[in-house]
Amino acid sequence: MSVLKEINPNVKNIKQLASVVLAREASQISEELREGVRKPYEEVIDVSSGDPHRAGVKPLSFVRQVLAACAYPQLIDSARLPVDVRQRAQKLLGECVGGSVGSYTSSEGSPQIVRRISEFITRRDGGIPSSPENIYISPGSEWSFMSTLRLLVNSEGSPRTGVLTPVPCQSTTNMTITLLGAVVVPYHLNEERGWALQVEELHRALESAKGACNPVALYVINPGYPSGHVQSRKSMQEVIRFVSEKRLFLLADEVYQDCVYGEKSEFLSYRRVLSEMGPPFSDTVELASFHSASQGFLGECGLRCGYVELVNLDPGVMEYIYKVFSIDSSAPVLGQIALDLMMNPPQPGDPSYPLYKEETENIRSTLVQNVKRAVEVVNSLPGFCCQPVEGGAFLFPRLYFPPKAIQKAKEAGVQPDTFYCARLLEQAGVLISPGCENGQKEGTHHIRFCIMTSEKTMEELLRRLTCFHSQFMKDFS
Ligand SMILES: Cc1ncc(COP(=O)(O)O)c(C=O)c1O
Repeated sequence: MSVLKEINPNVKNIKQLASVVLAREASQISEELREGVRKPYEEVIDVSSGDPHRAGVKPLSFVRQVLAACAYPQLIDSARLPVDVRQRAQKLLGECVGGSVGSYTSSEGSPQIVRRISEFITRRDGGIPSSPENIYISPGSEWSFMSTLRLLVNSEGSPRTGVLTPVPCQSTTNMTITLLGAVVVPYHLNEERGWALQVEELHRALESAKGACNPVALYVINPGYPSGHVQSRKSMQEVIRFVSEKRLFLLADEVYQDCVYGEKSEFLSYRRVLSEMGPPFSDTVELASFHSASQGFLGECGLRCGYVELVNLDPGVMEYIYKVFSIDSSAPVLGQIALDLMMNPPQPGDPSYPLYKEETENIRSTLVQNVKRAVEVVNSLPGFCCQPVEGGAFLFPRLYFPPKAIQKAKEAGVQPDTFYCARLLEQAGVLISPGCENGQKEGTHHIRFCIMTSEKTMEELLRRLTCFHSQFMKDFS
C-alpha cells in the first residue's frame, strides 16, 4: 500500500492528454523505422506542439554564439566569434554572480536583465514607462502564470475561485487552474467570426458561474492560441471595460507578440491599450502580462525562461507577489540571457546584424508562406474549414466528420478528432494534436498543428495530409 494513501483530489481531476498517448505512439513508430520496419513514410513529422525547434526552425546564430561564449568563457577570446558576440558575452558574464552562468540570480531574475526588459517594454509600447520593480523573470511563462494564480486562488474559499478562460485554449492552463483547486469558467471564441472574442460571451460566461464559483480573473491569449486571431484595439478596450466593471484581474498571455502576419493586424499590448484609455481604467485595472523566450523567432522553449509584468497592483499585494515568486530559486541563467538577447538583438552596424536580420527574415517569410499554403490546402479538402490566421504559430481548422467516422471513434472509446489524429500518425507518419485537447464547442471537431517549420516540411506534411484525408473520407462515407 502506497504511503500516498490519499492523492490530492485536484491532481485526480486533471485529465490525461490524448497528445501524450499519441506522442508515445510516435516514438514507437520512429523506433520501428530506425530498426528498418517498412512503412509508407521514412520519418515521422512532428508538428504537434508549439516548439519551433522541434518542428524544424533553426536556432538564431547570434543567440547561440553568445550563449556558447557565456557557458564556455574561453570562447570570448576566440577570433572565430564576431566581436559584438564576444563583447556581449563578456558584459553578460560580468553581470553574473561569480562571473558564471552556473550561479543563481535573485529570485526575480538578474537585476540588469530585468531592467533591460522594462526598457524593452517601454520602447515597444511607444514610450509608456515600465518599471523594473513590476517585472519577475521565471522558468517560462506558464510558471509565471501559475505563480500569479497562486495569489489569486483562495484554496480554502467556498465557493471556489473561478477563472474565465477561452475555448479553445492552452490545455496546460486549464490543468494549472484545476491543480490549484480553482474552477475553469469557459467562454467561447466566435469561430465563424475568425475566433473573435466577443464581450457578450464574457457576460454569458460570468453569469453561468453564478452559484458555482467566485470568478476573480479573466485569462486572454493575444495573439490567439491556437486560433491565430489577433485582437483589435476596440476589442481589447471592450475587454478592459468588462474586467473593470466586473472587478476581475486581467491575465494577458502575449507570448506570440512577434508572430503577427495578417495584412491588417497589429500587435498591441494590453498594458499599452489600458494606459492609452486613461483614467479610471489606466490606474485601476489590475493586469499581468506574460511573455516568453519560447515563442517568436527565438523559439528557445528548452531554455525555460519568461517574464510577467504586473500593472496597477497595490504595493501591499506586490509584497505577496515577491513572496510567491521567491519560493523557487531563480530561472535558468542561460534562459535569462536568451530572453535578454530577444529583447536586445544586434543593431544595424553591429557585425552580427546582417546574419541576424537574414535569419529572422527567413523565419518570418517561411511562416507567412506556410500559413498561406496550409490554409489554402486545408480549405481545399472536403470537410475542412479553416478561419483566416492572422498570428500565432498554429492552424486550428474545423473538421466535419462523416457520421460513420464518429461512430467508429465512439466504438474505439475516443473523441473523433483523436481517432483522426491516431490514424493520420499510423498511416501517414504525421503527428498533430486533436482539438478536444484545447476545448471546442460541443459537437464541433478540430485538429491543431504548428506552422513554424521549414517550407519543405510543410509541403510534405500537406501532401501526406491530403492523401490521408481523401482516403479517410472515402473509407467513412
Ligand atoms: C499561449 C501559450 N502560452 C504560454 C506558452 C508556454 O510558454 P513557456 O514555454 O514560456 O512556459 C505557450 C507555449 O506553447 C503557449 O502556446
